[in-house]
Amino acid sequence: MSARVLLVGSGGREHAVAWKLSQSPQVGEIFVAPGNAGTAALARNLDIRPTDIDGLVRAAKEHRIDFYLATMDDPQPLGLVDRLQAEGVLCYGPSAAAARIEASKAWAKAFMERHGIPTARGRSFSSFEEAAAWVESLPEQRLWVKASGLAAGKGAVGAANREEAIGILRSMLIERAFGDAGSTVVVEEELSGFETSAHAFCDGRTAVLWPFATDYKRALDGAQGLNTGGMGAYAPTKGVDSGLAGVIKERVIDPVLRGMEEEGHPFVGTLFPGLMVRDGDVKVIEYNARSGDPETQVHMLRLESDLYAVARAAAEGRLAEVEVRWAAEPAVCVVLVPGGYPGKYETGHPIEGLDRVDPDVFVFHGGTKLVDGQVVTSGGRALTVAARAATVREAREKVYENVRRIHFKDMHYRTDIALEAAAGG
Ligand code: AMP
Ligand code: GLY
Repeated sequence: MSARVLLVGSGGREHAVAWKLSQSPQVGEIFVAPGNAGTAALARNLDIRPTDIDGLVRAAKEHRIDFYLATMDDPQPLGLVDRLQAEGVLCYGPSAAAARIEASKAWAKAFMERHGIPTARGRSFSSFEEAAAWVESLPEQRLWVKASGLAAGKGAVGAANREEAIGILRSMLIERAFGDAGSTVVVEEELSGFETSAHAFCDGRTAVLWPFATDYKRALDGAQGLNTGGMGAYAPTKGVDSGLAGVIKERVIDPVLRGMEEEGHPFVGTLFPGLMVRDGDVKVIEYNARSGDPETQVHMLRLESDLYAVARAAAEGRLAEVEVRWAAEPAVCVVLVPGGYPGKYETGHPIEGLDRVDPDVFVFHGGTKLVDGQVVTSGGRALTVAARAATVREAREKVYENVRRIHFKDMHYRTDIALEAAAGG
């Protein structure tokens, strides 16, 4: 058997997944829509937008795709999995109904409430007046205001007090700073503790947890600047032991599978809760219905099992039959972006130095494209540089040493990825 696999997206995550799939003896050809300069080396890029569901379904037929592995958030809420399944394509990814757990934070909040899943206290609003009145009724405190819809990881804004929260509500609900994604918002209390990203392969009934990863969301060192899609990551997260992992599975993963099944839309695909952990207690910040970027880049370096075989087993409801193995070595990755990201930034700058990267260091492409044989920047998170080593400290040093060999105009990266974790070895 030689599977023809479709991925949708153009991030470092999609390059890392394509790279991992390319090692499977069961995978024949990989197609990535739209892909980037990195995926072009391993797969066939298809010039189709991730939200062009008709175009993707047409391409799946034309290229005789037999497996779809969902990695990015956009296509599932638009029904890509439902449509591909109707064409006989086996899918590892959620239906549109199941993808609401990510696509609507308001829906997710209500789902968590229905199923007793621990999360920050909060409420959803579509009316500015109602939201502002509710905020006014709260004691003075830090709050988070979030666009309910998909906003590329940038739709959550922290407020130092009620007045700031009301200003953010005005920008989302009245000025529509996030377009339709912010026509409904969730307002919630601030949680404290440390963050970790959980991921689990899910087949509708069974969940198999991945190791935990730490993502660095802010644009600048010391967790300063705006929230981004993620500026770097390492895994496994220090401080999450098997006891805590068990609590997380029991309290925030298994109830999703049970609840989704009960409500008639079983969850198949990668479930990725963002969590806040404090004194052994865990609360959900949000659920994602796909894997994280850049978390996926470190996970793919550590996954020893055949990703295609595991995802296929999950798509067929046979996850309980497979064993998923991970390397003991930790991995670290650092994302290179153009200065200004996630705000305004330039693209089209040539990337130099990729040929000087060590062979055991991986450069996953995100916002890049090939122009006349030259790799140039074409988006925000241009490259993810990733490596594995015996310790977090060594992996981190290896990554940064290689980052310094790469250059493009205005290149920016955080210098403190995995810094605290490395202090422990
Ligand atoms: P989200 O888009 O909901 O994942 O939020 C993005 C980031 O904002 C999270 O990873 C947290 O760093 C931060 N955040 C969101 N909600 C909260 C909250 N209730 N308390 C503390 N931090 C939060
Ligand atoms: N790194 C966070 C995300 O992919 O949503």
